[in-house]
Amino acid sequence: MDQGSGHDAMDQRMGDELSMEEAPGSDLVDPFGRIIRDLRISVTDRCNFRCTYCMPAEGMQWLDRSAVMSFEEIERLASIFVHRYRVEGIRLTGGEPTVRAHLAVLVRRLAKLGVDLAMTTNGATLRLLASELRDAGLKRVNISLDTLDPVKFEQMTRRDSLHRVLDGIEAAKAAGFDPVKINAVIERGVNDDEIVALAEFGRTNGVEMRFIEFMPLDATGHWMSDKVVGQDEIVAAIAAVYPLEQLPARGAAPADRWRYLDGVGTVGVIPTVTKPFCGDCDRVRLTAEGQFRTCLFATDEFDLLAAMRNGESDDEIAARIERAVGTKWAGHQINQVNFVRPNRSMSQIGG
Ligand code: GTP
Ligand code: 5AD
Ligand code: SF4
Repeated sequence: MDQGSGHDAMDQRMGDELSMEEAPGSDLVDPFGRIIRDLRISVTDRCNFRCTYCMPAEGMQWLDRSAVMSFEEIERLASIFVHRYRVEGIRLTGGEPTVRAHLAVLVRRLAKLGVDLAMTTNGATLRLLASELRDAGLKRVNISLDTLDPVKFEQMTRRDSLHRVLDGIEAAKAAGFDPVKINAVIERGVNDDEIVALAEFGRTNGVEMRFIEFMPLDATGHWMSDKVVGQDEIVAAIAAVYPLEQLPARGAAPADRWRYLDGVGTVGVIPTVTKPFCGDCDRVRLTAEGQFRTCLFATDEFDLLAAMRNGESDDEIAARIERAVGTKWAGHQINQVNFVRPNRSMSQIGG
């Protein structure tokens, strides 16, 4: 590189820093005073599993490719959230995010935004992708694992892939992801007998196990409140074998956390149903087709992809985002009689 182009590059970097300072953005605040800091972006509605708590066995209608946001479109929206509104974290979700072709290309672009860039995945393809994604700038992965029994795994995911997921978890660790968090949705009568075994898996493998209360976001509509295994029951089951001490409050993160008194790691529970954490919520979501959702359980959506494709400016799109955040509700109403399930199931929202 000659001297001149070196200076050019340096001037460019200083220019970038300056423009960031000149335009520090403003907080995106909802009507309840909660500041939005976390954007979850679904990159595809497709999935290579068919988990019973999420998808039907067959008959999902996939989005047309043209209806799904391109990488350029995702990058443009993400940059509005980060630069205008000081969003600090972006999480890639699906469907299953790794079935989107060339995901590492998107990761590389989003990594330039300098945020906490994470992904939630079923882990089945991580043996192939973990290193590439980490090299591209992905900082953290959360991996789903609901059972350690291969037969039950096949029943729950409708795929014979336990070995792939276990291998994927190893690959994520080997690639240097830290922490690696493992999500298990617990459904009564299905895998609630494995709570302690899964906790042991976390302890033995140096990963944080997080138990998730089953939510009414399954495509088949079989959710019933008596299928939910609540946080208190989960913690009691683990503590009976491995004594626990609760860690200080979670802030905006959905998981409550405990540490094992013998010093071997931590465990979390995401208590959406029995102890909703909506009061601290700092999240918004984009579906794969660019619909903006201000709550996991929202029944309204705001079409940001159509706005972009209609040629709207960043200012116009930002105005739509602000209007939408102005409708964010106080929280979900799962435990109340007037609860209305969203039209979408989890795989179409992104978790
Ligand atoms: P980190 O704590 O930053 O690692 O991420 P996370 O726990 O927010 O992300 P992850 O995708 O692993 O979320 C785990 C589960 O938490 C999801 O599958 C949902 O079941 C639940 N969850 C995540 N965000 C929300 C939310 O905004 N509302 C509710 N009710 N549940 C959520
Ligand atoms: N209830 C709770 N969590 C769910 N997930 C999918 N469906 C449900 C549900 N009905 C979780 C997965 C994964 C994330 C993408 O969403 O386990 O952690
Ligand atoms: Fe936020 Fe809605 Fe989840 Fe409550 S249910 S934490 S408001 S996204």
